[in-house]
Amino acid sequence: MAIYQATASAPVNIACIKYWGKRDTKLILPTNSSLSVTLDQDHLRSTTTSRADPSFEKDRLWLNSAEEEIKEGGRLSTCIREMKRMRKEVENKDASLPKLSTYAVHICSRNNFPTAAGLASSASGFAALVASLAALYQLPASPSELSLIARQGSGSACRSLFGGFVAWEMGSKPDGSDSLAVEVAPREHWPDIHALICVVSDDKKGTSSTSGMQRTVETSTLLQHRIKYVVPERMEAISAAIRARDFDSFARITMQDSNQFHAVALDTDPPIFYMNDVSRAIIALIVEYNRVAVAAGGKLKAAYTYDAGPNAVIYAPKENLKEIVELIVKYFPQAEPFKDPFALFGGAGVQGR
Ligand code: PMV
Repeated sequence: MAIYQATASAPVNIACIKYWGKRDTKLILPTNSSLSVTLDQDHLRSTTTSRADPSFEKDRLWLNSAEEEIKEGGRLSTCIREMKRMRKEVENKDASLPKLSTYAVHICSRNNFPTAAGLASSASGFAALVASLAALYQLPASPSELSLIARQGSGSACRSLFGGFVAWEMGSKPDGSDSLAVEVAPREHWPDIHALICVVSDDKKGTSSTSGMQRTVETSTLLQHRIKYVVPERMEAISAAIRARDFDSFARITMQDSNQFHAVALDTDPPIFYMNDVSRAIIALIVEYNRVAVAAGGKLKAAYTYDAGPNAVIYAPKENLKEIVELIVKYFPQAEPFKDPFALFGGAGVQGR
């Protein structure tokens, strides 16, 4: 008997221009475009194995060894249904193919980092899920086409289908067919930039991105300003900075956008606080580090950014990393010494099987 099984892995991505707000909650269509860097290395990845078999009675999924319910009409079931639909199209064209679209699937996924702690586990998770099903079904789909499906699992997941610098174009069509991820530049274009992840807390986050976004869309006037007047210009400017390998501009825009995202969270009613005192102290440290560099006639040396949680991601050219780690260790002494603190970004995005 043939075994139909495939494994794929996808890394986390960390946004420089943040996605926050949906204009369509079912299709997961955003209120603004966003741009991120896909991390590379083995620290922050989801690895997913999918198997199709005629003996399976229903679709099932295990996340970090615990079974998750696949709710009818929920995001998991939407992604699985869409992938089966794509497989069916392939089977319709070639009658000799096994009818995998009619079999149930068992999916097993593992994150090698804390789930739902503001480290974008849903992004790598849904990207790996879609990539493993694409490999299982041998779909001739491009990463951008697969991003249309991953987006319906978790918005930011669409960006993890690519390595390097990735934009999620918000699109304008009501069916979402143009709301997809595109590559801005591959990691090889700018391998000098690294990301340092400072895990301030690995607790589960207080307000999920889904409920937080909904509240923001309903109540924040600052969000409306951001969508209309701020993000379109920033998307252009940061894409140009990436193409020119201009770290000073990249860093400035990244920090401004993190600040505005958290301002928008605060402008929500009731307000949402994702950063804590340690997060803010790390911001102060990076601001001072940059101030000293600029005062000496230099340029910005590091950029912080925070997602929906207290953990800091610091982007910096490689030559500054040692200094930054030394500063962090000095001002934030750890009970346990840092283990392998560097998470380099870029890379292969999704690996095939
Ligand atoms: O894709 P979600 O629903 O996990 O939302 C992610 C939102 C942020 O991480 C805060 C920003 C982003 O663009 O990744």
